[in-house]
Amino acid sequence: MVTAPVGRLLWVGLIWLAGTLCWAADKPPGFALSSAHPDATAAGVEILEAGGNAFDAAIAVSAALAVVEPTGSGMGGGGFWLLHVAETGRQVMVDGREEAPSAATATLFQNDAGDVVPSLSRDGPLAAAIPGQPAALVHLAKEYGRLPLAQTLAPAVRLAREGFAVDGPLLARLAYRFQALSRSQAAARVFLPGGGLPEPGSLIRQPDLANMLEMLAKDGVDGFYSGEMAKRLVRGVRDAGGIWQLEDLANYRIKERAPVTFDVDGVRVVSASPPSSGGVVLKQVMQVLSLTQALEQPAVDRKHLVIEALRTAYRDRAAWLGDPDHVEMPIDRLTSEAYAREIAEAIDLERARKSADLIPPQTLIEEGEHTTHFSIIDADGNRVAATLTINLSFGSAFMVPGTGFLLNDEMDDFSAKPGVPNAFGLIGTSANAVGPGRRPLSSMSPSFVETPDRVAILGTPGGSRIITMVLLGILETLDGSDATTIVSRPRYHHQYLPDAVYFEPGALSEAEMATLRGRGFTLKSAGREYGNFHAVVWNRSANTLDAAADPRGIGEAAVRSSSAEKVLGAAAD
Ligand code: GLY
Repeated sequence: MVTAPVGRLLWVGLIWLAGTLCWAADKPPGFALSSAHPDATAAGVEILEAGGNAFDAAIAVSAALAVVEPTGSGMGGGGFWLLHVAETGRQVMVDGREEAPSAATATLFQNDAGDVVPSLSRDGPLAAAIPGQPAALVHLAKEYGRLPLAQTLAPAVRLAREGFAVDGPLLARLAYRFQALSRSQAAARVFLPGGGLPEPGSLIRQPDLANMLEMLAKDGVDGFYSGEMAKRLVRGVRDAGGIWQLEDLANYRIKERAPVTFDVDGVRVVSASPPSSGGVVLKQVMQVLSLTQALEQPAVDRKHLVIEALRTAYRDRAAWLGDPDHVEMPIDRLTSEAYAREIAEAIDLERARKSADLIPPQTLIEEGEHTTHFSIIDADGNRVAATLTINLSFGSAFMVPGTGFLLNDEMDDFSAKPGVPNAFGLIGTSANAVGPGRRPLSSMSPSFVETPDRVAILGTPGGSRIITMVLLGILETLDGSDATTIVSRPRYHHQYLPDAVYFEPGALSEAEMATLRGRGFTLKSAGREYGNFHAVVWNRSANTLDAAADPRGIGEAAVRSSSAEKVLGAAAD
């Protein structure tokens, strides 16, 4: 493939010059947010209207999602909160990822014969890593918020105590995880009234979770990581076969990390850094797309280039990435222009490459799909893109009695054994092996896109497909699409192995499918829609706000501005 100089410097210069000559507002005309549940969006709106900033609203939305979307995230899980502080321009990733307990070993999820036993890292307390979300919410309040935690957690406490209505997606996932949830008495008491599925529209009340949130508001991290709650958690986990110790909770720390930030073709992308793989993959892929001028190619060739760029980037993800505090990663090389050029030059628009022909990593891994994402901007221009998770639907499906929250099964995001795929078909190497105090590699990719006239705040759940969904969202943003189009457009995905392009209905036209098959790609229907994307877009030239919730979910977006005031539901259930 013939390549152009990366960044096409002249164009970049012209675009930025045009951007700076155009009038661009310093502050948005109000606030906007989008999350996966109407009650969580309402919690964020309540806090912003009460004078809170985007960071306060992020606390409220995170906690509310823990109550009303217990499939995706929770106080027993973790996540990445990507922040833009308007006053200083500082951008930082708050890493509240879960951490393996100190007794974890590389062979924890293998039997005596050395075979991986997948249920051990997916169901029950052995699957649970030390949660990061409680510490992250305290950190956000202390370092970035304006309001006390008692106020920002209040909407979630109310929802937990008064109850929320069972919705369709929740019911479907309860049915899917029925067996695992039934095995945990405390979890079943909350989610399976009388031992069966709840009625649609009936209320789920979570008084223990309300108490836990109040304790966090009152005592900060000590309300979770030491004292009575810590003792109860360790006792409950160990009684049921887990390996947590009090020191594991006491030693948990939030880490602030520099995001992966890069400029390509006049656009700045800010995304998650390791232990997420998102930013590294996006930087490599976007450079390859720039060198091959993918955005100017006919639609089918653009897709060909995207798929080929993803193929190499996901191979490299599997081979090299892990917890930055425990493994050396060749990130400079993986994200260099020289390497992007090598990849671009190996792409042939006449035919598909084969993943088997690429040098394989020693072993690969997959991640949980039932995560959540929200995006927020406030009237000062502070921004939050947050992707949170407990990994698989309802995490480990295990709840310690009296605590009110499910524990994650993030241990499944480690590579249980080099080369053996995880729940999402991803493989991994020793870079992501289980080990004491390690944070498992993630695909969560909360991102900002900054063009001369627009700022987009993007992200989605979706396991290994998160990164390609965010990539397609970035490309939509560059195409000038509005928030609704960014979250709605049908998607396609390639992750190196399996060596196939998975697509949603409508993502590829009949003609594109014929062309791509003719070039040697294996195309497979994803079998269903996937993802639950949330986007906020601030057009700085027009000074307007736009936000949208993915029509594949039940989420809701809200915009309050001097020029418009609206609550935007998802287009469909
Ligand atoms: N558990 C999903 C992820 O971290 O990517």
